[in-house]
Amino acid sequence: MIKKTFYITTPIYYPSDKLHIGHSYTTVAADAMARFKRQTGYDVHFLTGTDEHGQKIERRAQELGQEPQVFVDGIVSWIKKLWELLDISYDDFIRTTEERHKVAVQKIFQKFYEQGDIYKSKYEGWYCTPCEAFWTERQLEEGNCPDCNRPVELVAEESYFFKMSKYVDRLVDYIEKNPDFIQPASRKNEMINNFIKPGLEDLCVSRTTFRWGIPVPFDPEHVIYVWLDALTNYITALGYASSDEQQLQRYWPADVQLIGKEIVRFHTIYWPIFLMALGLDLPDKVFGHGWLLLDDGKMSKSKGNVVDPEILVERYGSDAIRYFLLREISFGADGHFSEEALVHRLNFDLANDLGNLLNRTMAMLNKYFSGRVPSPGESAPLDDELKEMASTMPAKIEALMDQLQFSSALAELWKFIARANKYIDETAPWALAKNEQQSRLQSVMYNLVESIRIVSVVLLPFMPRTPQRIWSQLGIAEQTNLHTWDSIGTFGGLPADVQTLPGEMLFPRLELSGEGGAPVRQATKKDKLTPKVKDVQKVQSEGLLSIEEFARVDLRVAQIKTAEAIAGADKLLKLMVDVGGQERQVVAGIANHYSPAELVGKHILFVANLKPAKLRGIRSDGMLLAASDDEGNLVLATTEAPIKTGSSVK
Ligand code: MSP
Repeated sequence: MIKKTFYITTPIYYPSDKLHIGHSYTTVAADAMARFKRQTGYDVHFLTGTDEHGQKIERRAQELGQEPQVFVDGIVSWIKKLWELLDISYDDFIRTTEERHKVAVQKIFQKFYEQGDIYKSKYEGWYCTPCEAFWTERQLEEGNCPDCNRPVELVAEESYFFKMSKYVDRLVDYIEKNPDFIQPASRKNEMINNFIKPGLEDLCVSRTTFRWGIPVPFDPEHVIYVWLDALTNYITALGYASSDEQQLQRYWPADVQLIGKEIVRFHTIYWPIFLMALGLDLPDKVFGHGWLLLDDGKMSKSKGNVVDPEILVERYGSDAIRYFLLREISFGADGHFSEEALVHRLNFDLANDLGNLLNRTMAMLNKYFSGRVPSPGESAPLDDELKEMASTMPAKIEALMDQLQFSSALAELWKFIARANKYIDETAPWALAKNEQQSRLQSVMYNLVESIRIVSVVLLPFMPRTPQRIWSQLGIAEQTNLHTWDSIGTFGGLPADVQTLPGEMLFPRLELSGEGGAPVRQATKKDKLTPKVKDVQKVQSEGLLSIEEFARVDLRVAQIKTAEAIAGADKLLKLMVDVGGQERQVVAGIANHYSPAELVGKHILFVANLKPAKLRGIRSDGMLLAASDDEGNLVLATTEAPIKTGSSVK
């Protein structure tokens, strides 16, 4: 069967500085959508990347006394790490400084020129370097850039121009006939009324007063305007104008292009016109989401820790941050970000609603059934409402996701969580146990565990880590057939007799520390649920592991990519290892036994789900296994024969 394809893109980010949490918003949303489509059976291609040319980057590099390429390389690797921290599952990451892109952009420019869409003239007008945008006198607002409010510069230089006028009628026609093309609808009206109706000017598409860009192939004094260069990434990444256009055939036109509202103009006027000039179809949907704002205004990196995504992830975990971004703000509208609001959401939705459902269910299951899921017994009308909601909820979520309504989709899921919590109160399992209504108690407990499984599956695209933790507790971590969208189609997919294993609280409540108002995680006695299963107690008292406990250790094959000494730490080495395509940094105490050079390339055994720690201030995310004897010898545990990295070890 041929799978339906789904191509989704984010804007490509300027690597002019580290990104803030507002930037992460677009990418987290795109990732949730990509994961959702994969989960529901699509052949997904998810593209993100970096927009590395232009005057803004050149100036920033100059300020720092660096070559632009060296400067962007540093920020780009930081961005890639950030996406890893936030579990962004992109299929391709395009950098506009890559050869595959540069060559294709030159071909595109040449084609435009040859077909008479581009002509040479002189540009005299205003330029906003932070936005890399040209403005006419009339468009300025109090002499400043109407988008970012910053000062503009007067530019007068020879340039190539693109004849927008040639295509504008076709564009208007397309927008009118395809009401879903520009979303939300308010942005469509803004484009037509503010930019198209007053008369669309030809666009200046080359610059001569700086060098950091792709040269015009037939006139190398000119570099190609950074927006023409950048917009085409969505097709150059698919191989447009290369010797292999298979991906282009397969995925173009894009199903959804996600962008922030200030760049809607570039994506719904210039981009479709470029595509028309290339004879390519237009994307199905361009969605301009709102901004994440701080209480005192626009977000910027200079606002410090509170907007630093790395710090926020370290403090709260990536799933919590993802949840907040997707749930708090209605996609399309502006929203506010503050740590107080974040903590509030985490406490109410994650610790209370979701956490309590799991904890209460697990505690009762332990008490009444030694943690083993009973088969359903006697049913009652109360069950029907829960089951009915469980079976209709996934379709509702699918419809909301198709409209990119992430917050409403999560609200729908939380209605079901609330229903399940209410079901506990209504059925009062403790009373059933007391009255020895065993058969009824079996049904109630089964229905609750099955409801939690359904919740975990729906949660996966939004919070990719939490379901794994739930599945470990439910004892179904290895049963991947119970993790699929199809498996929640009918209530009752969970087999009876599964042995559950309570673990750590998913989301302990957070409190404000009072010190500078920064919220911190307060450990409580309840943080750990003590397993009450007799069998578990028995194996623990004998010092043995149950198979379920062992299964919680995620052992993988990894390959050492780089190794380096750590200044001031004789025994430690800093390693980068590849685990199934994911790069992990680990600090290992093996410097007395291996030199960095002999480690590179080795296939080792690696604990992939160890809580990250800091050693000498350096983050270590995982652990490699080594054998040591009492004479101080140490050897790494390696695989007996080559096998793919990421392979699981059991
Ligand atoms: N390089 C251009 C895009 C080229 S696409 C062909 C660019 N880069 S950017 O790094 O400045 O912004 C990337 C994205 O982050 C944009 O969609 C922008 O709207 C988004 N955001 C930047 N700040 C934001 C918030 N505070 N809130 C939400 N999104 C924000 O523009």
